[in-house]
Amino acid sequence: MTHDPKEKPEGDTDDAEAGEGALITRRRFARAVLGTATAGYSVAIAYPVTRYLLSGAEIADEGTQVSEVSIGKADDLNPRSGKNFAFGSRPALIVRDAGGNFAAFLATCTHLGCTVALDPKAFIIRCPCHGGTYDPMTGKNIGGPPPKPLEPLHAVIETDKLVVRKRKA
Ligand code: FES
Repeated sequence: MTHDPKEKPEGDTDDAEAGEGALITRRRFARAVLGTATAGYSVAIAYPVTRYLLSGAEIADEGTQVSEVSIGKADDLNPRSGKNFAFGSRPALIVRDAGGNFAAFLATCTHLGCTVALDPKAFIIRCPCHGGTYDPMTGKNIGGPPPKPLEPLHAVIETDKLVVRKRKA
């Protein structure tokens, strides 16, 4: 029996090649999945960190692109209540206290940028992400991780309409 040199050695069959090919494909697939997951986690971590580093004035001006927003009739907001609204592309919050006074803020938490809202029962502004709290009428950070107050806006009543404006620097 002669041996054909083109013949593959035992164990080096097409099946073995297919198996190796499949292994490489699985490795590539696993690397692709791992790479995608790593990229996703990187973005998820980098975004809030970047927002934190840019917190303050830069975030306050980022994307607002409006200087004034009308948010309806003043009487539509009950005492000891709050309302979230859009100030340009930024979330904002207006609060009315028991005495009828209004206060407004950009509703971006100064910790990592989550949107805050009024807890009307406790009459306190809360951040849902890490439990940060703010005074509802001054925006001062009073609990949890936020490092500084909310960015204030100016709330005024003009012919029974509630208007919120950017504060002048
Ligand atoms: Fe608001 Fe962390 S983002 S407390």
